[in-house]
Parts: sequence; structure tokens; C-alpha cells
Amino acid sequence: MADQYRVRVTEDETEFVCGTHQDLLAAAVAQQVRSIKRGCRGGGCGMCKVQVLDGAYDLGKSSVAILPPAEREQGYVLACKTIPKSDLKIRVTTES
Ligand code: FES
Repeated sequence: MADQYRVRVTEDETEFVCGTHQDLLAAAVAQQVRSIKRGCRGGGCGMCKVQVLDGAYDLGKSSVAILPPAEREQGYVLACKTIPKSDLKIRVTTES
């Protein structure tokens, strides 16, 4: 079983690796990937919102006001609360 997954950011073709127990934002910061904006790192500000285009993940506790159910259904996640369960393809977005 993999102990890390590959995460590709579609806009700039950046790729980084993320541990199976690590959130996307922490992994991006550790590898100096700046495509994902960072804020509170606690699921409350929405700065790190991205859309998962492909792959499996677990989304931890996230503010419903910041990430409403309709967005979750479209694959939007908070990177600071998202743990990959496979390789991922993501789109960085500033849309709310
Ligand atoms: S950094 Fe604030 S919600 Fe992720």
C-alpha cells in the first residue's frame, strides 16, 4: 500500500507528494508549492479551497459556511482538511 500519493495541480502542472495521513496544504507548504493559498489551516477561512477533478480523498471537518454542500458535491474541498486516498488531480480556485 502506498505511503504517499501524487497531487497534480492542473493550472500550472505543478506536482507534489502528500503522505497518506497528511493534508494537502501541509504537503504543499512543506514542498514549497505556492499554488494553494494558505490561511487559518483549520478549515475556517476558505483560503485553501481547491477542486478535486480526479481521485479519492477524505474531507475532515470543514465550515459549512465556507464549503456548502453544493460545492462539496462538485468536488470542492479545503486543502487543509483533505487527506488523499489516491493520486489526485486538483484545480486551484478562488471561487466561493
Ligand atoms: S487554510 Fe483556512 S480553511 Fe484551509
